[in-house]
Amino acid sequence: MIEYIDKAPTLEEYKEMRRAVNFIVLSDRIAKNALNNAFHITTVRDNGRAIGMIRVLSDGSYANFITDVMVIPEYQHRGIGTTMMKRTMDFMYGTLEEGETIILYLMSASGKEPFYKQFGFRERPNNDWGAGMSQWITK
Ligand SMILES: CC(C)(COP(=O)(O)OP(=O)(O)OC[C@H]1O[C@@H](n2cnc3c(N)ncnc32)[C@H](O)[C@@H]1OP(=O)(O)O)[C@@H](O)C(=O)NCCC(=O)NCCS
Repeated sequence: MIEYIDKAPTLEEYKEMRRAVNFIVLSDRIAKNALNNAFHITTVRDNGRAIGMIRVLSDGSYANFITDVMVIPEYQHRGIGTTMMKRTMDFMYGTLEEGETIILYLMSASGKEPFYKQFGFRERPNNDWGAGMSQWITK
C-alpha cells in the first residue's frame, strides 16, 4: 500500500533513496541537518518501505525551495512524483492568506523540465527573469 506521510525518512532511508537515484553522497552530518532543518518533508512508503520523498526549504513564508524530489527507479512512472508535487503545492498554497503571494523555486535535473512545467514552473532564463544559478562548494 502506497502512503504519503508528511514526516522525514530516517537517515539511512534518505541515504538509500539518494543512492538509488544517483544523487551525490552526503556526509551523515550534512544529511541529518538536511532532514532536521527542512520546512516540510513528505516521505512516500510502500508497505513501510521508503520509496520516494520531497522536501521544501523555506523562510517559513516568502521564499520556498523545493528539493530532493525523488522516487526510486522501480517505482517511477506510476504517478508518485506527480502526487508528491501536487501535495506539496497544495501544502504551500495552504500557507497563504487571501491576497498574498509567495515564490517557489526549484532546480530541475537535466531533462526533467517538462515534469515540473505541468505544475506551473517556468524555465529560466526567460523574458522576465534571468537564469537560476548554483554551484557546489566542497571542503
Ligand atoms: C523526477 C521523478 C521524481 C519523477 O517521479 P515519477 O514518480 O516517475 O513521476 P510520475 O510517474 O508522476 O511522472 C513521470 C512520468 O511518468 C508518466 N506516468 C505517470 N503515471 C504513469 C503510469 N501510471 N503509467 C505510465 N506512465 C506514467 C508521466 O506522464 C510522466 O511522464 P513525463 O516524464 O514524460 O512527464 C523521478 O523520475 C526521479 O526520482 N528521478 C530521479 C531523481 C531526479 O532526477 N529528481 C529530480 C531532481 S530535480
